Amino acid sequence: MSSKISIKGNKPLFGEVNISGAKNAALAIIPAAVLVDGVCRLENIPNIVDVMVQLEIVRGMGAGVRFLNPTTVEIDSRHIALNNPPFELMRKLRASYYLMGVLLSRFNKAEVAMPGGCDFGGVRPIDLHIKGFETLGAKVSLKEGGFVCLKAENGLKGRNIFLDVVSVGATMNIMLAATLAEGQTIIENAAKEPHIVDLANFLNSMGARVMGAGTDVIKIHGVPCLHGGTYSIIPDQIEAGTYMAAVTATGGSLLIKNIIPRHLECISAKLVEMGAEVEYFDDSVRVTRSGPLHKTNIKTLPYPGFPTDMQPQLAVPLCLVEDGASVITEGVWDSRYRYVDELRKMGADIHVDGKVAVINGVGHLTGAPVKASDLRAGAAMIIAGLAAEGETTVEGIIHIERGYEDIVGKFKAVGARIEYIEEGYGEMRDIV
Ligand code: EPZ
Repeated sequence: MSSKISIKGNKPLFGEVNISGAKNAALAIIPAAVLVDGVCRLENIPNIVDVMVQLEIVRGMGAGVRFLNPTTVEIDSRHIALNNPPFELMRKLRASYYLMGVLLSRFNKAEVAMPGGCDFGGVRPIDLHIKGFETLGAKVSLKEGGFVCLKAENGLKGRNIFLDVVSVGATMNIMLAATLAEGQTIIENAAKEPHIVDLANFLNSMGARVMGAGTDVIKIHGVPCLHGGTYSIIPDQIEAGTYMAAVTATGGSLLIKNIIPRHLECISAKLVEMGAEVEYFDDSVRVTRSGPLHKTNIKTLPYPGFPTDMQPQLAVPLCLVEDGASVITEGVWDSRYRYVDELRKMGADIHVDGKVAVINGVGHLTGAPVKASDLRAGAAMIIAGLAAEGETTVEGIIHIERGYEDIVGKFKAVGARIEYIEEGYGEMRDIV
């Protein structure tokens, strides 16, 4: 039986939302714990599918994984074995590729399945990761069946690496590889996202020497080994932004707690242009929208620009404006508009040409059965359902559960009429 989400929309949201730990930080820090020949305790871990898969992967490689409570996990990497990597699990998510940098750094070799992850319509290469590893002295080959084999017989040696494209994954993977390499590595044109700083802070708290994370030049002095310790993951910038976008679309007022204000400035600036009021406190932000929505234009860029992972979510309130057309330009991925067809089913008027989407505001949306094609598109479907008149059902919710902890419960707690429903006939074999 496939479960869906049902939403009865057109109701403003009021109340408080607690933000969980950052998915894209946790997905890098969990494999990074395997660099440590000891025990790491990670706090503020989000309870989401991708994190559970990443933990299963490191457990499958021989790490001890133990939850002390729902958001605190201990990873003991003293008995890692490379003989039988869990390839099938690696194929489930893109962030499994961080094991390349980690295993190369600690063991001078790695065999990892080509990563999986969200398919939002474009190619997701790893050429910059491989260029970085080869620059540090690894030999990299692609094996039949979708495996990447990496070997550094003489160990990794620090070098200067210039990233042709600003890449979050390549920046973090090269940082991981350089952590135990010999000498200094300099990554130029590095990505600056909050989760990159979080990874560097985690590594440094375990004895690494990473400097400059959060700028476009990161220097890593290799160290012989890392020691265990405790680290708390930062709050999720994109989860917080998703709730900010939701209340902007539905109207109402939300106090969004456990956030870092600086990480949300690129998002709140855009929401204010659209008619929301934003008030920051030490570790929370109140977003209110009571007046009309206004059109605006969005260009997604690497941090501190407007995040691509918020692009689908903001397309929804732009559909609801009544004062004209807005233009979204996707500046990070080749294409990220698979959600547009689903919004059209709800009455949206959107024209897509390559990286550009022109959204003619139609004033309202009408509930309909829609599908989540990937994680952030799924979040956009929920926001659309919350704002639409009538009922919306969302299929493909596994995509949503990969990256959002208890999204139904968190929205229900602020007045949304949202629930899981079991329906459909399941597989044919169930009824023939
Ligand atoms: C990370 O993906 C995030 N995923 C993505 O979030 C996010 O959209 C992306 O960064 C950009 O912020 C995780 O952290 C698990 P990139 P990543 O390498 O690292 C090109 C979500 O919704 N590129 O920064 O895969 C690439 O094609 C997910 O949470 C190369 O050309 O993204 C893209 O155009 C979806 N060669 C650009 O760089 C490479 O070797 C940015 O990609 C690598 C990337």
